[in-house]
Amino acid sequence: MSTQRGTGPRRVTVADLREMKRRGEKIAALTAYDYLFARLVDAAGVDVVLVGDSLGQVVLGLDTTIPVTLDDMIHHARAVRRGVERGLLVVDLPFLTYQVSRQDALRNAGRVLQETGASAVKLEGGSPEIAETVATLVGAGIPVMGHLGFTPQSVHVTGVRVQGKGEEAAERMLADARRLEAAGAFSIVLELVPGALARRVSENVDIPTIGIGAGAGCDGQVLVLHDMLGLNPGFAPRFLRRFAEVGQAASEGVGDFVKSVKDGGYPGAEHTFE
Ligand code: KIV
Repeated sequence: MSTQRGTGPRRVTVADLREMKRRGEKIAALTAYDYLFARLVDAAGVDVVLVGDSLGQVVLGLDTTIPVTLDDMIHHARAVRRGVERGLLVVDLPFLTYQVSRQDALRNAGRVLQETGASAVKLEGGSPEIAETVATLVGAGIPVMGHLGFTPQSVHVTGVRVQGKGEEAAERMLADARRLEAAGAFSIVLELVPGALARRVSENVDIPTIGIGAGAGCDGQVLVLHDMLGLNPGFAPRFLRRFAEVGQAASEGVGDFVKSVKDGGYPGAEHTFE
């Protein structure tokens, strides 16, 4: 029985994502950090809206995700929630909000669900300790998305590079994915992973994988909204396709505004009250 009330579209659930994998329908996921973009992304039919801790770089101007706080995530996720009617809303647990203890993780993930209205959280890593944390959260009724491959919260250990190269590293990632699945994760993001390995992982777990820089063998794809819209023109990794050049259009529009104000072209009579 659905517990959903109201007249809006039915929200995507974690069960829907699993069913999409079963029938071979690809999952489309994008990040969002504010109300207007969330509304746009949701209306376009994205299945998963992720409030990523990439918030640090693309919204807050930080170098890494590491300084992002739980309060930052909650503040932005509350705005995103207001714009999302259909997509499954997932919120990243930022650095040190789930690694210190399972109790801490439960309290912090619980805050995210209670204070934002999100349906799930995402956390990074696939070690036995992380898997225990996943099991604790899932046991308390909090759906968890995992994240393997390049995990940005460990950037100072790994650098930004493709992960899982070589058979030993590939086996480790496969074991991590199986561990997350056994712990109850409903999906796994695979970031910067060789295409053949991402396909292998995807074929070896029943939960959907969502790739970013991991090739076409994943069950879905996710991109950072600002990157795929061309809002961040300096960022051009090999895996990224820009689906629009919004940054260019925005620069031109702002430049035109400045010029029009300076030369008196704006406002005209049609913009002026009688
Ligand atoms: O923080 C983020 O935006 C992410 C995606 C890149 C998956 O984790």
